[in-house]
Amino acid sequence: MPGIEKLGVIGAGQMGNGIAHVAAQSGLSVVMLDVAEEALAKARGTITKNMDRQVQKGTLSAADKDAALARIASTTDYAAFAECDLVIEAATEREDIKRKIFATLAPHLKADALIATNTSSIPITRLAAATDRPGRFVGMHFFNPVPMMKLVEVIRGLATEDATVRTVAALAERMGKTVAYAADYPAFIVNRILVPMINEAVFALQEGVGDVVSIDAGMKLGCNHPMGPLELGDFVGLDVCLAVMEVMQAGLGDSKYRPAPLLRTYVEAGWLGRKSGKGFYDYATTPPKPSR
Ligand SMILES: NC(=O)c1ccc[n+]([C@@H]2O[C@H](COP(=O)([O-])OP(=O)(O)OC[C@H]3O[C@@H](n4cnc5c(N)ncnc54)[C@H](O)[C@@H]3O)[C@@H](O)[C@H]2O)c1
Repeated sequence: MPGIEKLGVIGAGQMGNGIAHVAAQSGLSVVMLDVAEEALAKARGTITKNMDRQVQKGTLSAADKDAALARIASTTDYAAFAECDLVIEAATEREDIKRKIFATLAPHLKADALIATNTSSIPITRLAAATDRPGRFVGMHFFNPVPMMKLVEVIRGLATEDATVRTVAALAERMGKTVAYAADYPAFIVNRILVPMINEAVFALQEGVGDVVSIDAGMKLGCNHPMGPLELGDFVGLDVCLAVMEVMQAGLGDSKYRPAPLLRTYVEAGWLGRKSGKGFYDYATTPPKPSR
């Protein structure tokens, strides 16, 4: 299978615009699609701002920035994917939305085009079965922010062909990423290990093993983690952490994946972390203080 030269990206949010940015900077021609024109305009603004920052830091020339931006087209029309070798779906994390996208996409694609999904939690095999090409369907899980984070998890579904895996792994490397190969189990590799650690930190807080500051200091200074687990939970979003625990609990059926009740309480209070202004820390103050 030849390499990927023309890439489609569906969903121009946080992840979609990051994927488009890095792909265009790596020389690919990119078509970015969203349901909302405003999302496309905002994505282009974000990509431009992030590339400007690279120019200021001297890691990208102004000419290369202009060339990369010129390689990104925006559309709301699936017909623009006709020439794409691969389309990466990075739309909202809802199975019904993703299924509808794949059904709309299929008739517009070349027969040998590949489809990848950036889903964080929906089984790849299940999504693949909803397409017309399960052998040419694969998980490509980027990390946020995409221009900074070096990892891509490549996840094969039951029917994914070897050539599909090889082609998307080569693309990830061309985009400057390192590939970790994951089997199609809930939360893949990174979230399977990371989110239970955050959840365990919440259990420790709930049981009074330590307070917020001690738990975070313990893992930063005792294990050399750049962020404490509670601070990291706030960064990821406590609702996202809860959802990942629920997916693992349902998919793996083991009580060790039960969400900490205190995590659920924070989410029910609307204390979701940085994005809501308050989680385990209160972000109204600088530096943030523990919220209770
Ligand atoms: N945010 C993260 O840290 C992260 C990390 C890895 C993977 N992911 C996954 O990436 C995907 C996107 O997440 P995000 O954080 O970029 O979300 P986001 O909310 O920032 O962006 C989602 C975009 O999808 C668009 N969209 C919704 N329905 C659509 C449709 N029918 N057709 C086309 N576009 C549609 C929205 O308008 C929005 O612009 C999700 O599957 C998520 O699980 C997220």
